[in-house]
Amino acid sequence: MNSRILVTGGAGFIGSALVRYLVKYADYSVLTLDSLTYAGNLRSLEALEGNARHRFVKGDIRDGDLVRALLEEFRPNIITHLAAESHVDRSIDGPSAFIQTNIVGTYSLLEQAATYWKGLSGAERVAFRFHHISTDEVFGSLGSIGRFSETTPYDPRSPYSASKAASDHLVRAWAHTFGLPVLITNCSNNYGPYQFPEKLIPLAILNGLRGTPIPVYGTGLNVRDWLFVDDHVRALVRVFEAGQTGQSYLVGGSNEQTNLQVVQAICDCLDQLKPRLGGPPRRELISFVQDRPGHDQRYAIDAGKIMHDLGWKPSETFESGLERTVRWYLENEDWWRPILEGTYAGQRLGLMAPTNAPEEFS
Ligand code: NAD
Ligand code: DAU
Repeated sequence: MNSRILVTGGAGFIGSALVRYLVKYADYSVLTLDSLTYAGNLRSLEALEGNARHRFVKGDIRDGDLVRALLEEFRPNIITHLAAESHVDRSIDGPSAFIQTNIVGTYSLLEQAATYWKGLSGAERVAFRFHHISTDEVFGSLGSIGRFSETTPYDPRSPYSASKAASDHLVRAWAHTFGLPVLITNCSNNYGPYQFPEKLIPLAILNGLRGTPIPVYGTGLNVRDWLFVDDHVRALVRVFEAGQTGQSYLVGGSNEQTNLQVVQAICDCLDQLKPRLGGPPRRELISFVQDRPGHDQRYAIDAGKIMHDLGWKPSETFESGLERTVRWYLENEDWWRPILEGTYAGQRLGLMAPTNAPEEFS
């Protein structure tokens, strides 16, 4: 049982880490479904080439005929749903793709999953799980105290987080109304190898490496709760193997940092691993730039439930995880160079919206 798993979005940052783990270090047969948007990259799955326990299909989660055919043929025990538009800044420049993939796509996948699940019988039907991977951003923004928990009310504030919140609600509706055995996880900021360089940590590493300005939005005092991607992957596996259906689990590293602290740590790590010949320390590259419109101030996770109920805890510290990440970018220029010379050159994204939101909504 539980040996066949369909991973949507498996060519992205977290999805590819999950797929590599499931095939290389666990005993799953994996079907990866990914439409290969700008964020999808088959090079992130190269380590699995020729492995009989992995198959890749290029396709869109909104393509109901394709998804139905794949479910009937592959007959998964588990669907883990990571396909999404994931970058807040891009959701400000163009929300439409977020509505399409995160909301319409999740709806379409739920329809197909429910039909497939209803057709199962016996032990297969009992064991089936639909695991939806979501974000802490659905809970909005914290002040200087408090942490998000499973009972925090939803309060999304960007087109990205609103679309993810909508998808969470759809998943719960399919559980309550149609009985689909679902699980939801809401995780904090991930970092690690193979992350697309539009996100803060890889962007700062690559700009630091190239000696170009490292953009810090606003004051740099916004806080995120960082988790190494492989720790997230281990949490996902714990949840779909042992989590209680109908429940959600928050996942986070208890590792709050201001954005300024993060980029300073990256600069120091780069200076240590690859000193600039005759150049000033990389901290001098840090450049304060116009703030993100509607920028959430602080995220922090209370991961007590998954730790207590499922025995998960992160194994990487921020220092060790960041060093592993910096080393990976230093050693894998052949992965990131084509991106910088092709789909994304490191330019500023997300300034399309007016910066002064009406007071009652801010
Ligand atoms: P990513 O942007 O790196 O990858 C998303 C993947 O989905 C890409 O491979 C892309 O090609 C694919 N995709 C997009 N639209 C698709 C469609 N219509 N059909 C099929 N495939 C499609 O994202 P990520 O950072 O790996 O995030 C994965 C999931 O985890 C997302 O749901 C995201 O909301 C969630 N999440 C991310 C973080 C984080 O810090 N990155 C934290 C918490 C939750
Ligand atoms: O909290 C989980 C979320 O974390 C995920 O759901 C998202 O998919 C993921 O992208 C991430 O969202 P953030 O907006 O927090 O991540 P990002 O890396 O874009 O930004 C992190 C912080 O750094 C945020 O406060 C904005 C700031 N920032 C970002 C960039 C790209 C900068 O200061 N400069 C930058 O150039």
